[in-house]
Amino acid sequence: MSTTVIRGGTVVSADGEAAGDVLVRGERIVAVGDVGAVDGATEIDATGCLVLPGLVDNHTHLSFPFQGTMSADDYDTGTRAAAAGGVTCVVDFAIQQDPDGLASGLEVWKGRAAGTAHVDYGFHMAVTNASDGVLRDMGAMVEAGVTSFKLFLAYKGELMARDDDLAAVMERARDLGALTMVHAENGDLVELYVGRARAAGQTAAVHHALTRPEFVEAEATSRAARIAEHTGAPLFVVHVTCEAAAREIEAAQARGADVVGETCIQYLTTSIDDLRKPGIEGCRYVCSPPLRDRRNQEPLWTMVRRGVLESVSTDHCSFTDAQKARGLDDFALVPNGLPMIQHRLAKMWDEGVRTGRLTPSELVDRCSTTIARRFGLESKGAIAPGKDADLVIFDPAAPRDYGVATSFMNVDYDLFEGETATGSVRTTLCRGTVVYDDGEIRTQPGHGRYVARTPRRVRSTGATGGA
Ligand code: URP
Ligand code: ZN
Ligand code: ZN
Repeated sequence: MSTTVIRGGTVVSADGEAAGDVLVRGERIVAVGDVGAVDGATEIDATGCLVLPGLVDNHTHLSFPFQGTMSADDYDTGTRAAAAGGVTCVVDFAIQQDPDGLASGLEVWKGRAAGTAHVDYGFHMAVTNASDGVLRDMGAMVEAGVTSFKLFLAYKGELMARDDDLAAVMERARDLGALTMVHAENGDLVELYVGRARAAGQTAAVHHALTRPEFVEAEATSRAARIAEHTGAPLFVVHVTCEAAAREIEAAQARGADVVGETCIQYLTTSIDDLRKPGIEGCRYVCSPPLRDRRNQEPLWTMVRRGVLESVSTDHCSFTDAQKARGLDDFALVPNGLPMIQHRLAKMWDEGVRTGRLTPSELVDRCSTTIARRFGLESKGAIAPGKDADLVIFDPAAPRDYGVATSFMNVDYDLFEGETATGSVRTTLCRGTVVYDDGEIRTQPGHGRYVARTPRRVRSTGATGGA
């Protein structure tokens, strides 16, 4: 069994930071603190660096067939980029394939990931209806370690679920100790507004945002929260983009409902102004819910600091320029999603920690520890004996240029091209193996393993699983 000592860094956990070493045997952490000489160990010098638990990205879309095309990153390229960004585990969205069951969806997504990924992965299951077969199979999913179910309240005609489906899935999830997630936008209103814009010849990328105004997200957030509250089911609202929607979550929490949300790094760092860029550049920023007016960013940071939005993910869903170009003359044809999986840590560091909005421990909490706890990843999210040796050595004094030259994402542009991050990931280990070091991927596809997640009722870290 291999032994590694990461020596001389500052170990950052969700609770604080301290100078110390990390001793790894095989796939696990065995000691943290002052580790003396260890015979035969591989030594990694982390002097001047932070040692963080591997980030978890609970919101990715790898090999995702969507809007008539397929997302550009598969489990190989997507998890290379993840590792380069300090991510050691992703929870990706499998999609229901059969109107009367979920088994085939899980099989398809497991087949896509097996033998391909560089970091560990789990799945949520996206549910498009609440047929008897689906409700039945939710039990089998939980047994298989898929303990969260997502419904899209938008994408009418493709993925959108009705409110009665949402309520029925919530009831079943509640009884299984599983978590319901929602993409909260009112899909009927989006369809109405998109139709009007197209009829009026308003086809530029910015109209993607103008036809999905903030209240469309806030209304769907409020509706889902009210249904969850009535049902007594926990709810996780994905990719919250604006103050109005975050306030609906805060209001539900004030009423005692078990409702939380996340935002994504793009909503904290980019805006509707990016959609106003000409031609293909604007199309690159089309995602749903859309990028918002900048005035939302500070309230979102505040909600993240206060924990109303308990985590920050990426919603990584990449498309190349050729794919995005389908909508050059009609924003409604641009596939929705941004390439972001590699950039969360560096952006959170510069825009969150260096600006004084978050402490390093809060960064760890929002990007790793709370996500692992919320999604039942018991062996992830912390640097402690017995946990998986998922570790990131982050050098805050090693600048790195953003751009296609340093990106591992499988697209031909980088949304932050021309910018420089002040710090960068030096090394990423997943279960004790160096996956990324000094600009290079060191593993073969297949190092990453499927992680079965634990439902709330049997979670050993807390009786109720509340975060
Ligand atoms: O635009 C986005 N977010 N694409 C991915 C699918 C989703 O809604 O999460
Ligand atoms: Zn979504
Ligand atoms: Zn998504």
